[in-house]
Amino acid sequence: IYAQGTFPPNTLPTVTTDPNKLEAQAEKALSARSYAYVAGGAGERATMDANRLAFRQWKIIPRMLRDTTHRDLRTTIFGQQYDSPLLFAPIGVQSIFHEDGEPGVASIAAELGVPYIMSTASSHSIEAVAAASGAGPRWFQLYWPHDEEITLSLLARAKENGFSTLVVTLDTWALAWRPWDLDGAYVPFIKGVGDAVGFSDPVFRRKYKEASGKEVEDDVVAAAYAWTQTVFSGRAHSWAEVDFLRKHWDGPLVLKGIQHPADAREAVARGVDGIVVSNHGGRQCDGAIGSLTMLPEIVEAVGDKVTVLFDSGVRTGVDCIKALALGAKGVLVGRPWCYGLGIGGKAGAKAAMQGLLADLDQSMGLAGIRDIAGCSREMVRKVEYAG
Ligand code: FNR
Repeated sequence: IYAQGTFPPNTLPTVTTDPNKLEAQAEKALSARSYAYVAGGAGERATMDANRLAFRQWKIIPRMLRDTTHRDLRTTIFGQQYDSPLLFAPIGVQSIFHEDGEPGVASIAAELGVPYIMSTASSHSIEAVAAASGAGPRWFQLYWPHDEEITLSLLARAKENGFSTLVVTLDTWALAWRPWDLDGAYVPFIKGVGDAVGFSDPVFRRKYKEASGKEVEDDVVAAAYAWTQTVFSGRAHSWAEVDFLRKHWDGPLVLKGIQHPADAREAVARGVDGIVVSNHGGRQCDGAIGSLTMLPEIVEAVGDKVTVLFDSGVRTGVDCIKALALGAKGVLVGRPWCYGLGIGGKAGAKAAMQGLLADLDQSMGLAGIRDIAGCSREMVRKVEYAG
C-alpha cells in the first residue's frame, strides 16, 4: 500500500483515504443539490456532530506481543457467514450521485462479499439490482407503506429476487427538516426515477391509475409525489403492526432506527431477529443523542436476545472496532462509499469500502486483535474528553 499508493496509477479513480477530506472531495465532484442531499442532515446537523463525538469519547486500549499477523474478519450474522462485519447501509436514489447507481454499487458489493442493503427509495427496480448483485449477499430495506397490498408486493418481489433479510426503517415515516435540501427546493425523486422501486411495482402502478386515471409515465412528477407520499406518509406505524411484517416475512426481520433500550425490548417482544441502533446518520431527529452513546445500554438490555447491528457516523476502521467492542455484530456504512460513488462511480464506491476494510484489518492487528470476537468490551474505555 505505502510503496504504490492505495491503487496502481491510472487503474482506479483516486478516492482520498483521509476520512476528513472525503466529504470535500465529493463536494467537488457532485452537483450542488446531490452534494446537499448526501452531506446534509437534519436541523443544524447537531446529531451528525454527536455521532462523531460519541466515537471520540471511546478509546481503544491496544495490546502488545500478540500474534496478529493474520487477521480473520469473518462474521456470522443470522446464521450466514460473511467475509467481514461491514455492510452497505441502505441509501436511496443513488443515480443522483452517479449513473452507475444501485446496480453499480450492488455489483461491487458482490465483488467485495459485503452485503448490499437495497433501499425502497432506490432509483432502480428490485429486479435490476438483484441481477447486478448476482450471487452476492443482499438484504432489502423497507420504507413501510400503510397500504398492505403494496407492502406485500414489495416483500414478495424482494423474496423472489434473493434478498435474504428484511430491514424495516422506523425513523423516516416523514422526512425531517433538512435545511440543505429545503434551501435547494430539492425533491430527490424527480431525477433518475424511470425504473425506481415504486414506479416498477405492479400494485403501486395499478393503484395509481385507479386513483388518478393516469399511467405512471403520463406525469412522472405527480407519480413521484404519490410514491413519496406512500412511503413517507407523515404517519407512523404502531408496534402492533410489526406483527403483520413478522407474519409475512419468514426470513430474518430487522428494525432500523432503534435508539432507546425500551424500544429495543419492545422489538424483542415482537419477535424480530435484529435491530439497527441508528439515528439515520443524523438525518432525521436533530438533537438526537449520538448513536454510539446508546449502543452499550441497548446491548445490555437485549444483546443476548436479538442481533444488534449499528450505524451512524462510522468513518474509520477503529470506529468499526469500537462499535463491535460495544456489542454490535455488524456495522452499516453510509456516506463514505456514497461519496466514493459520486467521485468515481462504482469503482469509487469500491475504493472507499475497500479502504475501510483494509483500515479495519490493519487497525485490528495493531490493537492486538486477531478476530471479530477479539473486538471485546475490554478493548475500549470511555473517556471524559472527546479528542
Ligand atoms: C440514507 N439513509 C437511508 N436509510 C434507509 O433506511 N433508507 C434509505 O433510503 C436511506 N437513504 C439515505 C440516503 C442518504 C444520502 C444517506 C446519507 C443516508 C440512512 C443510512 O442507511 C444510514 O443509516 C446512515 O447513512 C448512517 O450514517 P452515516 O454512515 O452516513 O454517518
